[in-house]
Amino acid sequence: MMRVADRITVSPTHAVTGTLRVPGDKSISHRYALLAAIAEGPSSIANYAPGADCASTLACLAALGAIVSRTPAPHEGDPPVVTIQGRGLHGLQAPPGPLDCGNSGSTMRMLGGVIAAHPFASTLIGDASLSRRPMRRIIGPLTQMGATVTAGPGDRPPVVIQGGPLIGINFTPDTPSAQVKSAVLLAGLQARGDTRVVEPASTRDHTERALAAFGATVMIDGRAITLRGGQPLTGRGLRVPGDLSSAAFLAVAASALTGSDVTITDVGLNPSRAGLLDLLRRFGAEVEATIEQQWNGEPVGRLRVRHGVMRDLVITPGEVPEVIDELPVLATLGTFGGSVTVSGAGELRVKESDRIAELVAGLRAMGADADERPDGFQVRAGTRLRGGTVHANHDHRLAMAFAVAALGAAGPTVIEGADAVAVSYPGFFEDLERLAR
Ligand code: S3P
Repeated sequence: MMRVADRITVSPTHAVTGTLRVPGDKSISHRYALLAAIAEGPSSIANYAPGADCASTLACLAALGAIVSRTPAPHEGDPPVVTIQGRGLHGLQAPPGPLDCGNSGSTMRMLGGVIAAHPFASTLIGDASLSRRPMRRIIGPLTQMGATVTAGPGDRPPVVIQGGPLIGINFTPDTPSAQVKSAVLLAGLQARGDTRVVEPASTRDHTERALAAFGATVMIDGRAITLRGGQPLTGRGLRVPGDLSSAAFLAVAASALTGSDVTITDVGLNPSRAGLLDLLRRFGAEVEATIEQQWNGEPVGRLRVRHGVMRDLVITPGEVPEVIDELPVLATLGTFGGSVTVSGAGELRVKESDRIAELVAGLRAMGADADERPDGFQVRAGTRLRGGTVHANHDHRLAMAFAVAALGAAGPTVIEGADAVAVSYPGFFEDLERLAR
């Protein structure tokens, strides 16, 4: 692998083998930080995700008056422990300027729920990619709860929130979204009365588990989640599991390359995120997932993935929410053997980039037989990639997916905009190189 400025050259490899840990989970880190800021007393968060997205959340919370500090971890090589001095429910202060959420949709949407209950106005802004993403999905419910929320043309950022006293609502989102569910629950925690969210399809349940870890009572009945407003949270010590969505890139590489055998330790194995494991098994990989511990109500363990046969993979609409972030890398399986077909995944078009158009364009530039559909894509087996030059289009998961595809190409692949990996997995290329044989 050769890196020049923002461009990395990935060479083909025979196999990936070895054992490693991946960085802390991005989704869980955001939630622990947000809840710590509105809890009473201090919280410490070990293995906080090192990427830019979770740093955006901390910077916003600091601008809202939470005291955030980082201290060296007791074990060498671990990331610093993040300490947040909680301000209690409704305790945040008006920020001195706009709250910059960077590239992070999770920060903007979930923080929106937190500040909607505070009696001041704030403006949430983001980078060019985030400024194109839809915010109607949080504007609707937060307005219904009593906040005044406006956005730019097409309901895109900047989002201006004038918060105040909220009332609990009964809410069914149009699209399954853990960010929207979480925004409503975080507002509901600070509202009068009960808030109930009924999901159209189950999504990751980290907010529910995190609320319980901070001492709140959350009632779950199938796809309905009910939370009583006004429950105080208590600050505590937390540890973030490794991010299964980051491990996914290595797991897919191990599934695709003959002779591969990769083990990832201390990785989050929450069932609401684990759809990837079933899909890899269906593709033909040997997958062993062993839950060893619970960290603050999150299952954590060891994941071993070995190459097996390679079969066609059809991912149906009902399976999409559990693997929404893994779809770009799952697509690359089609370039190794076994076609990959995805439908019901129109949400991919409003992620950090249009992940249907950009993914298919990138894989085709490398020589893949692939095409777009309005709500998905197909990558057909039987054509070996040539390699070539692709652009990550400021999208971390595309940069990493192209790198995995590049491992199986006939020649080298240049990935432009490779620095995008810093959003969720800053050491990705180094880890991949460590495993490549
Ligand atoms: C996330 C939920 C998903 C996912 C994103 C993280 C979360 O987004 O794509 O990377 O932490 O709740 P949606 O809620 O928009 O589906």
